[in-house]
Amino acid sequence: MKIAVLPGDGIGPEIMAAALKVLDYIIDDESLDVEIESAPLGARAYFEFGDPFPDHTKLICDSADVILKGPVGLSYDETQKIPIEFRPERGAILPLRKRYDTYANFRPVRLSSTMKQFSPLKNELLEEGIDFVIVRELVGGLYFGAKSHGVNREGLRYVRETLEYNEAQIRRVLVTAFDLASERRCHLHNIHKSNVLLSSELWNEVLREVAQNYPNVEVTHMLVDAAATEMCLAPNTFDVMVMENMFGDILSDQAGGLLGSLGLMPSACIGDNKSYFEPSHGSAPGLSGQNVANPYSMIGCVALMLQVSMGRQDLADRVWSALFRVLEKGTVTQDLALHNSLLKVVTTCEFGALVLDEIAKR
Ligand code: IPM
Ligand code: MN
Repeated sequence: MKIAVLPGDGIGPEIMAAALKVLDYIIDDESLDVEIESAPLGARAYFEFGDPFPDHTKLICDSADVILKGPVGLSYDETQKIPIEFRPERGAILPLRKRYDTYANFRPVRLSSTMKQFSPLKNELLEEGIDFVIVRELVGGLYFGAKSHGVNREGLRYVRETLEYNEAQIRRVLVTAFDLASERRCHLHNIHKSNVLLSSELWNEVLREVAQNYPNVEVTHMLVDAAATEMCLAPNTFDVMVMENMFGDILSDQAGGLLGSLGLMPSACIGDNKSYFEPSHGSAPGLSGQNVANPYSMIGCVALMLQVSMGRQDLADRVWSALFRVLEKGTVTQDLALHNSLLKVVTTCEFGALVLDEIAKR
């Protein structure tokens, strides 16, 4: 198995280093046949090679079985030095998603019941912790629709963006969501905005068709704005949530807030032929180079990769429980200690080393 590693910008290289130590340990311990190749992606790749997704990175990714990607992007000021179409979001992330057609983005939202202290929610809401998955459509909708801008007949500057889906794009992500729901608690929340958007009407129509093949899965329809409230008031209402691209972008950041930090949000971007794994958060340029970033999301990506791309749920569980155990002991990076002085703040490297210790203990 060949893994392309794209450390990215900002805190990317630091959290990737911690994640690779975990991966290396597991490869060694389990004698896995894995080859790792690193490649540049993002703003630094632009400054060095004139392209945030350089051709040689494309070749390495094309020939890899799976991609492990760190966050990309630099500070606002640095970003202004890059022409708009070469900025890392438009020039690297979206083309990466499109190239490998990674249409299903799984964002697990997990907080073990012993990690309640990190969440801003009241303890009563967290008896059993939090455990749901956001399934976000990742290669359609407003992100990829036609765009134009100019000056209209009244002389006003205007902009137009298109939210477009065809039924095949909708069906395939719904099928992955129903499959996941069948493996979990058989309850799917369909998040939409059909009171306003025609795209949600088609989405819901296709959903009714797909649902016929899953008589065991109960479907609850919820408007996206109502879902935002429900996530705060009763997060355990949810098990699997499915939604279009933009809704998923916003609600998954909110989910990071429920946990207490976006640093607790890994994600898996799944296509029919290739998948890649990335944290849900950005590159936090303000924290970079200080050894303070939380590597949990990047290490969580390794767990997701072991589970999804290597079929090793056992190894994934080993990584998850190590992550949970380190946090349960109250050792955290600074993002999780903002409102709690009883926690012991450790560096990125130290957190990674503690996770390794736990993995080694079994
Ligand atoms: C995410 C990020 C990206 C998105 C950005 C960086 C383009 O916010 O993965 O959620 O909006 O999809
Ligand atoms: Mn986002």
